[in-house]
Amino acid sequence: MSTNEPEAVVEATARDLGIGADDVRQLLHFLAPLAAHNVETYRHSIRVGVLAARLAQAHGEPGFLALFGGAWHDIGKLDVPNTVLRAERFGDEERHSVERHAWCGFLRIAGVYYEAGLVAGLHHAFQSRPYGLTPGRYPSQVVRAAQMVAVCDFYDALVTRKDGRYSEDERSRPMEIMAQYYPAHTRWISWLAAEGPGCLG
Ligand SMILES: [Fe+2]
Ligand SMILES: [Fe+2]
Repeated sequence: MSTNEPEAVVEATARDLGIGADDVRQLLHFLAPLAAHNVETYRHSIRVGVLAARLAQAHGEPGFLALFGGAWHDIGKLDVPNTVLRAERFGDEERHSVERHAWCGFLRIAGVYYEAGLVAGLHHAFQSRPYGLTPGRYPSQVVRAAQMVAVCDFYDALVTRKDGRYSEDERSRPMEIMAQYYPAHTRWISWLAAEGPGCLG
């Protein structure tokens, strides 16, 4: 396996964080069906897990929860038909179908690692049109991990998606766009701008 294959990047990140090989195997085991369902989402999930873990580590937050919550944040897309995930036209019906992934992700993961399930359920709770779980009732450490995952999720989508979801103009100035969406997290955004690409091998 070359060192920048997604699984190798997760393993290297986990090693740096002091996370054991058994935990990494579990992380990849639960994520594997997503590789078969939609490989772009699988690769995106791994990048978000690694970015969130490094972001957390740099800001004194638990890297373990950020890694697992980040890597599993979109696991609920297993419950969204691939035809919808790949739809060119994104109307109300497709949006409704995709938005289920936050709840579905929580339900899939909560029995394995409850806090990571919460992160999956919460990762769309901080945008202007939120969906999934609502953050009010959960521990602040879990909510912060979910916010970090949300910021990394948006960052990865802006810099990697070329399917027309974001305009060329938006894609050319990702940090500025992110700061507009997440004005409370400019410190994390600056960190991502400087360190993000280097985290992914
Ligand atoms: Fe998502
Ligand atoms: Fe995502």
